[in-house]
Amino acid sequence: MLFKVALLASGVLINSVFAWDNGLQKAPAMGFNTWNRFACNINEALIRDTATRMKDLGFLTAGYNYINIDDCWNTKSRDTSGQLVVDSTKFPSGMKNLTDFLHGLGFKAGVCEDQGLTTCAGFAGSLNHELTDARTFVNWGFDYIKIDNCDSGSFKGTNPERFQRWTDALTQVKAETGKMLFYSLVEWQSFDAWVWGPPIANSWRMYDDIQANWPRITQILNNASFIGDHSNFHAHNDLDMLENGNGALTLAEQRSHFTAWALAKSPLLIGTDVSKLSQDSIAILTNPEIISINQDNIIGEPLKPFFWGKNPDGTWDPSFPAQYWSGYWKDQEHTAIMYINFNERTVDLNFTFSHSPHLKADKKYAVRDLWKHQDKGIVANFFFDGSIPSHDVRAYIFTEQP
Ligand SMILES: *[C@@H]1O[C@H](CO)[C@@H](O)[C@H](O)[C@H]1NC(C)=O
Ligand SMILES: *[C@@H]1O[C@H](CO)[C@@H](O)[C@H](O)[C@H]1NC(C)=O
Ligand SMILES: *[C@@H]1O[C@H](CO)[C@@H](O)[C@H](O)[C@H]1NC(C)=O
Repeated sequence: MLFKVALLASGVLINSVFAWDNGLQKAPAMGFNTWNRFACNINEALIRDTATRMKDLGFLTAGYNYINIDDCWNTKSRDTSGQLVVDSTKFPSGMKNLTDFLHGLGFKAGVCEDQGLTTCAGFAGSLNHELTDARTFVNWGFDYIKIDNCDSGSFKGTNPERFQRWTDALTQVKAETGKMLFYSLVEWQSFDAWVWGPPIANSWRMYDDIQANWPRITQILNNASFIGDHSNFHAHNDLDMLENGNGALTLAEQRSHFTAWALAKSPLLIGTDVSKLSQDSIAILTNPEIISINQDNIIGEPLKPFFWGKNPDGTWDPSFPAQYWSGYWKDQEHTAIMYINFNERTVDLNFTFSHSPHLKADKKYAVRDLWKHQDKGIVANFFFDGSIPSHDVRAYIFTEQP
């Protein structure tokens, strides 16, 4: 079913996205994915351990409810009846056993396949087997599929046609079984899935693979800053899986990365060894005030830049994206504001309300700091906050006063 999300602000239609309402959650997916940290070194014990730890550490309660297996779980060929085959060395108890375990803990289960002849790591792909495989994944108890983009050269049609095959297969299997899977797709080269993705899938990648370093994070955010209008309920720009806990990202960078992904309304999939996460990193990933913006069920639009800061507005700069972002939260009396300090030095923040389309220049606002978890009092006309460290972030909720 297609429906139109329309938001009216001051009588002006500010957004409309034709999204695929497949009956699943409106907000972005949250959970865990194996790829960033483990790549092909996966097995059922790792999945069970990760899920158990995520529950014990409070991630499930915080909203991270999908445990997703990426590439490398299957074999290179199908069986004689054309079915996918699980690698029984890595997953000796089989997939149904594993999804039962995850469901027993309260999680949902996700898996990755590929809309090409082979997956990126060279295992059997799904192209021309979409309906068979959709049935298999439902039989195995999965709730979520990521469809990757490797080895698709033999397909003669367009990318929208290729990925639409999974939309059709999932719709067919829903009619047969009553079960619908969350559909996360990955497209690259043309990088235009935000244009045709909304009626086809629940999320689509919008950039090359993330890496656990600050320059890659600013590159992805720079591109994302121009396509916020394409993302809304059921249909989200996917900035790629989180790198919190990986590489040499500082705590300030981890905070900025997580806040930017959450407020751009990207899926939030943890991609590290959760048994090695520091308490500080856990506190970043489970900040309930940031997550409540990502998971807002009333306002679907992401935050968008309203003022570039150092660069002139509208500048495309992969190492210094737009700094000031805003969007509504819950209703039009609550505005979320994000500022990221891309400078290599500490700076003060000071902006006037009239810059943001989500603030009214003539109103007073009560301000809450979402990282210090503090109310900062009532402000008018402009907002000042001092000493923001290099690569760190500030996020606030501005509540309009009567
Ligand atoms: C899953 O497999 C494990 C070990 O192979 C077994 O102990 C357990 O009973 C199985 N669970 C289910 C739900 O089948
Ligand atoms: C990022 O945006 C630029 C400018 O629109 C575009 O040329 C480039 O292909 C994009 N890169 C990715 C990986 O999306
Ligand atoms: C912030 O900017 C406003 C107007 O642009 C100015 O009046 C005010 O003095 C500035 N505040 C600080 C603390 O710099």
